[in-house]
Amino acid sequence: LEHYPFQINEQGNLTVSEVDTVSLVKQYGTPLYVYDVAHIRKNCRAFVDTFKKHGITAQVAYASKAFSSIAILQVVHQEGLAVDVVSKGELYTALQAGVPPEKIHFHGNNKSRSELEMALKHRVGCIVIDNFYEISLLGELLEVYNQEVDVLMRVTPGLRSNTHEYIMTGNEDSKFGFNIHNGQAEQAFLEIRNHKQLRLKGLHCHIGSQIFETEGFIKATSMLFSVIADWQKRYQFTPEVMNLGGGFGIRYTDEDQPLPRHEYVEALIEAVKHHVEQIKIPMPEIWIEPGRSIVGDAGITLYKIGSMKDIPGIRKYITVDGGMTDNLRPALYQAKYDAIVANRANDARTELVSIAGKCCESGDMLIYDINLQKTDQNDILAVLSTGAYGYSMANNYNRFTRPAVVFVENGQHQLVVKRETYIDVVQHDLSYLK
Ligand code: LLP
Repeated sequence: LEHYPFQINEQGNLTVSEVDTVSLVKQYGTPLYVYDVAHIRKNCRAFVDTFKKHGITAQVAYASKAFSSIAILQVVHQEGLAVDVVSKGELYTALQAGVPPEKIHFHGNNKSRSELEMALKHRVGCIVIDNFYEISLLGELLEVYNQEVDVLMRVTPGLRSNTHEYIMTGNEDSKFGFNIHNGQAEQAFLEIRNHKQLRLKGLHCHIGSQIFETEGFIKATSMLFSVIADWQKRYQFTPEVMNLGGGFGIRYTDEDQPLPRHEYVEALIEAVKHHVEQIKIPMPEIWIEPGRSIVGDAGITLYKIGSMKDIPGIRKYITVDGGMTDNLRPALYQAKYDAIVANRANDARTELVSIAGKCCESGDMLIYDINLQKTDQNDILAVLSTGAYGYSMANNYNRFTRPAVVFVENGQHQLVVKRETYIDVVQHDLSYLK
């Protein structure tokens, strides 16, 4: 547990900020997402403080797709972060949380007219333009509403980041952004600049997620600056903002060796500074958009262990009362996780088992081949590092109810998302009795 903000108490139970996870399960049931809020704050500060320390004007925008709820957005807002949203639903949640609209960035590769209207109506701080259709749609709406808006232009540098194919976004064959190599970025740049109500602040790129080295970020930065150097010369364009996205890796298992958060930031600062000096322009603001690295390692999921099946010589299955409905990542990306038996956390890990979910789907396996404490029915299993893209990708397959979310801080726990009920599950169903 040395890399996690969790401890083990005298009873041998896993604790989050001194609160016993076994008692949390008694009170709130399972599956249950539990977050250590102090750790979320620490993650936020690691980014914010590094920029401060280096005297760089910056905006750290929390990518709320990683976990969007009113409570989490209130916490990151308190910590001084902006919020990145990609849909009306995420925007609505941020507004409900009390995030000031000027601290909201709107992303997305197919923003609808009504999404853009909502963004303009609430005067969000920035819209990140992704494609030509959006330039014309947004341009038209600005004329109708007689409004101006700050925009960034999302570009694809055409490089393959070192991560899973499904979460790679900066490669040439990507659905996101304008390609900088085939003239499309330049054409978009000219169209945006031609529209008086679009105030182009700078460029955006996001190369992918769960990245463990700084090299990809440095390369992407230099590709962006080669474009800027060109536009500087030919069009006298000087960016006020460089948004270099998110994607900073976190630890799921011991195979993962993420860099400390400040090292990613320092690499970005250094790269931007270097290019700025070369082409002799003022230092722009640096914006980043971490999602996973804010909430991922601060959250765990607690399950109750049920059926077990031992196939001698093949595999021992241990089944929990959740699965791909509360954590889609193993099924979708073969993502790996570590776990611990929360009520036997001090026992030696002596049994090689695999953790299955309870959905009717062979692929619903949470962990293959993990050394675990010897366990029994009704034990509590804690899967670690489930704080990002767990709740946010949860679903109702097999008509499971989405779990509750509990925040723990300073020894206090509080429900921040209620468990869904079966009434919620059927609430949109209509009867068809003729
Ligand atoms: N900015 C942009 C434009 C993004 O597309 C993303 C993630 C982020 C920031 C935040 O990336 P992060 O810091 O969280 O890695 N569901 C997947 C991840 C998909 C990420 C999509 N975009 C997963 O569970 O791994």
